Amino acid sequence: MMKVSVLGYGTVGSGVVEIIRENKELITKRTGEEIQVKSILDLRDFPGDPVQDIIVHDFEEIKNDSEVQIVIETMGGLHPAYEFVKASLESGKSVCTSNKALVAAYGPELLETAQDKNVNFLFEASVGGGIPIIRPLKVSLAPDEILEISGILNGTTNYILTEMTEKGADFDSVLKDAQEKGYAEKDPTADIEGHDACRKIAILTSLAYGKQLDFEDIYTEGITKITDRDINYAKKLGAKIKIFGSSRKVGDRVAAMVAPKLITSSHPLYSVDGVFNAILVKGNMVGDVMFYGQGAGKLATASAVVSDVIEETKHSNVHMKTLWEHEKLNLMPLDEVTSKFFVRVHGGREEVEKEVAAAFGKVTPVDVGYTDEFGFVTEEMTEGAYGKAADALSVINKIRFDA
Ligand code: HSE
Repeated sequence: MMKVSVLGYGTVGSGVVEIIRENKELITKRTGEEIQVKSILDLRDFPGDPVQDIIVHDFEEIKNDSEVQIVIETMGGLHPAYEFVKASLESGKSVCTSNKALVAAYGPELLETAQDKNVNFLFEASVGGGIPIIRPLKVSLAPDEILEISGILNGTTNYILTEMTEKGADFDSVLKDAQEKGYAEKDPTADIEGHDACRKIAILTSLAYGKQLDFEDIYTEGITKITDRDINYAKKLGAKIKIFGSSRKVGDRVAAMVAPKLITSSHPLYSVDGVFNAILVKGNMVGDVMFYGQGAGKLATASAVVSDVIEETKHSNVHMKTLWEHEKLNLMPLDEVTSKFFVRVHGGREEVEKEVAAAFGKVTPVDVGYTDEFGFVTEEMTEGAYGKAADALSVINKIRFDA
């Protein structure tokens, strides 16, 4: 019998308990051992809930319980999650977490502690919710050099952009509707400004290359500047706007960013709409591999957590090596990263075409009938060169064009 404790009986934590209970027989057969939730840490009591008798309010009770071998952290936030996870590992318990903020900020340190104590720190649910991506990167794709990761890593923003595209609605009204339907938080900043996707691509890229990519170092652009006019241009280009967390190997460096991009129907992630997430990984041997599914939600995320619990139960007393060192990843400066850009500038075509040509050289105009602005697509150029060229013009918006 594997006894586990859950830290935080919120959405994901209660989902974990539900899955362990509902799929008990199947999980026991597949694991070769029964998994039993011995205690749950929460500030609240849950009278009438089947777990009411195993709720504890003091983490020390769990830390000092020698029967508990796995701690499941589903509290979220950095503190006290970090202190509880660190203390659990130091007291010889493995930890399975869904907490991307914790993993992005303390991944290498917590993995090192796990290694020192011959236990494991597992975090499948921290990226892509229910989509298996961490274990595939660590195990299934271990023979490959990873050339590129491109992910639609945030359900809220993918939903907003999909609704704007399908209904022709503006950003603010779609966001309001998403909040009413529960697809966006009351404070949606982390999602719409790209911070959530940034932590996720930081984790995936660090794992892919075995070195630390600090999320603070990743250029991050959200979706708040996208308007219905941008969507109309996208349609004219036969493209959709999606926000990507992406990284790719360029020589011995890695280029990484979070930004909205225009993609056409030949892109493998073109049809990933609504709240769904998807991640495309290019390996130098396996080629393209795609992962698709629900990037959030109670049972999807909890399923990923329980997959870690099962993995740990099958390998208790064995440390499973995860390569993610403290050493910083060699990140390519943003100015050197190349892309094509779709650009909108103030002024009618006749008025500004010459200035645009002087700044950007050859461009491809995109005409959707607006007379007060000029839209065009540049040739492939560096971010640095784009910045210099754009400085000479009155730019309304620019979106990178992945075509
Ligand atoms: N707010 C996140 C999303 C939840 O929309 O994808 C999962 O991290």
